[in-house]
Amino acid sequence: MAMRRLLSRKTLTLASGFGGLSAVSRHARNLQTFTLPDLPYDYGALEPAISGEIMQIHHQKHHQTYITNYNKTLQLLHEAMEKGDASTVVKLQSAIKFNGGGHVNHSIFWKCLAPTHEGGGEPPKGSLGWAIDTDFGSLESLVQKMNAEGAALQGSGWVWLGLDKELKKLVIETTGNQDPLVTKGANLIPLLGIDVWEHAYYLQYKNVRPDYLKNIWKVVNWKYASELYQKECPPTSGR
Ligand SMILES: [Fe+2]
Repeated sequence: MAMRRLLSRKTLTLASGFGGLSAVSRHARNLQTFTLPDLPYDYGALEPAISGEIMQIHHQKHHQTYITNYNKTLQLLHEAMEKGDASTVVKLQSAIKFNGGGHVNHSIFWKCLAPTHEGGGEPPKGSLGWAIDTDFGSLESLVQKMNAEGAALQGSGWVWLGLDKELKKLVIETTGNQDPLVTKGANLIPLLGIDVWEHAYYLQYKNVRPDYLKNIWKVVNWKYASELYQKECPPTSGR
């Protein structure tokens, strides 16, 4: 399946000509809208770790809903800005964070996974592997820590392997709801993000989130994480 740019956008032109009823309708406006990225693999390609049914619903329904609501909210924001309606601008911030975060996080999540025949589950090689050994002792130790943090997260959210780009250090973080990793620190870059919302596993694993976390490592795309790490920490950086 051809891979499209994961944070793709298209231009939506709002036509004018509604009798000058609002500032928005008096002029043609070009607003950017976000669209659902294609997965870089088939829905069933991650089985048996993650079922094709889960992947299809997760992608086509859940991710799409975040995008739809993000675009709607951005439209409302645009209209409020045009009207100088400061109160509404403030009111929209939580919806922008939630739905925009949902789009950003899921766009990362799909890239963090890969079928086993395309390298999914293969341990990281090179500098990321060495950094994991330095910061966590071993890959097994890192996985145990992330699984423990993901299992302990109350409600819905994400568990992340991040890179502090200033300290050049790996970190494990969790975020609630759809908060992106950057909400835990402006210097943090997500290398891996694991969705621990029930919609990511319930159809297959029921309420046993630890089993989902145990199996997802069989399809984690360490190549993706390694490339991000090497970009931020080239050999000349001292790590
Ligand atoms: Fe999700």
